[in-house]
Amino acid sequence: MPLPTLSRRGACLALVLLVLLAASADAKPKKGRKVKAVTVSEANRLLDERNTTFIDIRSESDCKKRRVSGALCLPQDLVRQAIDIGKPVTVPTKKNILCYGLSADRNRQTCMYFVSAKYAPTVTVYALSSSAWQGIS
Ligand SMILES: *[C@@H]1O[C@H](CO)[C@@H](O)[C@H](O)[C@H]1NC(C)=O
Repeated sequence: MPLPTLSRRGACLALVLLVLLAASADAKPKKGRKVKAVTVSEANRLLDERNTTFIDIRSESDCKKRRVSGALCLPQDLVRQAIDIGKPVTVPTKKNILCYGLSADRNRQTCMYFVSAKYAPTVTVYALSSSAWQGIS
C-alpha cells in the first residue's frame, strides 16, 4: 500500500518545513531599540532628571501657546526633516528623547522615526502613552 507511505512522507516534509520556518524566525536579528512607552508620572520623573529632550509634536501654533516647560516644538510632519537636515530644530543627540502630543499612537509613531533612522543611537526614545501631556510639569 503506497498511500500511507506517501502521507507519512508528506507529514515528514511538513514537519521539516515547520522546523525550518521556526529556525529562520529565530535567526532574524532582533531590532535592539524600541520606543518605550511612558506614563505621565514616568515622564515627570524624566523631566526632573533633566536628561531628556521633550518634543511637542503638535502644530507649531498649539505648541507656542502652551507646552511642557523646556520642550522643543517640532510638529510631527517635520520630524523626518529635523532628523535629516537638523531643521527647523536640531534634536540633541546626547540626551534621551520623548515625544508627546495629541495621542499615544502619534507619539509612538513619530518617535519611531528616531529609532528607524538610528538617530542618536545611544539614547533612549520615549513616547507618552496617553494624550494627557498637560499633566507633565
Ligand atoms: C543622559 O542620557 C544619556 C543617553 O541615554 C546617557 O548616556 C547619559 O549617561 C545620561 N546622563 C546622566 C547624567 O544621566
